[in-house]
Amino acid sequence: MNYIELIERLKKVTPEDYEFEARVLIETFTDYKMSYIFSHRDEQIVGEALEKALQRRENREPLQYIVGKWDFYRQTYFVDENCLIPRADTEILVEKAIEILPENARFIDLCTGSGCIAISTLCERSDTQAVAVDKFEKTLDVAKKNAKLNGVEKRVDLMILDVLSEENKLDGYSFDAILSNPPYIRPEVIETLSKEVKHEPYAALWGGDDGLIFYNKIVKDYSQFLNNYGFILFEIGYDQAESLRIIADENGFNCEIIKDYAGRDRVAYLTKK
Ligand SMILES: C[S@@+](CC[C@H](N)C(=O)[O-])C[C@H]1O[C@@H](n2cnc3c(N)ncnc32)[C@H](O)[C@@H]1O
Repeated sequence: MNYIELIERLKKVTPEDYEFEARVLIETFTDYKMSYIFSHRDEQIVGEALEKALQRRENREPLQYIVGKWDFYRQTYFVDENCLIPRADTEILVEKAIEILPENARFIDLCTGSGCIAISTLCERSDTQAVAVDKFEKTLDVAKKNAKLNGVEKRVDLMILDVLSEENKLDGYSFDAILSNPPYIRPEVIETLSKEVKHEPYAALWGGDDGLIFYNKIVKDYSQFLNNYGFILFEIGYDQAESLRIIADENGFNCEIIKDYAGRDRVAYLTKK
């Protein structure tokens, strides 16, 4: 296979990003420099590893799982099929948390996945400590590796907890903030998502019939673990702002909506009334 053939095969998978993806695959799975590849486009790029990686991509596996690592905010994360791939959209929540967490804050990240929210926040705010929870052991294993990779393992407690039923595991805890990007997609919408997204864990997407099951549960049953000035930062879907305002109001919270860089509603910031 040469570069031109690689590009032709990738074009069929990802008509917009094929050049970027070709570069990532070459840099990850061969010893070639891109400068050499560009001036030798029809030379064979020998390598079983590259061919295997390309076949996985042709099977519509996300590039991030194939590469095994991805960048989020200012950090790098291990990613595999046990965790949602960290999205740039989620950086808005992290930026807000870094900005407003009080000094020496202790926060909890509910539905932590790769750990990206808790870990990037801890990295940028060296005065803070966190508890990060997820329902699945294999997912928490990824978060654990990421905490180590980014040097914050001593400041984060990782805990297996089913957010929908096991809040009493937190009895005795008190936090300055709850941060959460929970699953928030309705089942009928999950059906319409790309083949790549369908490689991600279903449990990381499923937000109950109305997409709101985690928001309702967390505001109602986890706000008891917030101290007096504690707040909640949720990532939300672009069409969920009004629902979050209602949930907040019904449970004694103000709700401010923060937009992402594309101008879509992205984060709900809840403070006690
Ligand atoms: C949308 S992903 C977010 C992951 C990560 N916080 C991020 O922003 O990339 C939601 C996470 O919730 C976890 N999850 C699903 N159901 C859960 C439950 N009942 N209790 C705790 N975690 C759950 C999934 O395993 C997944 O890691």
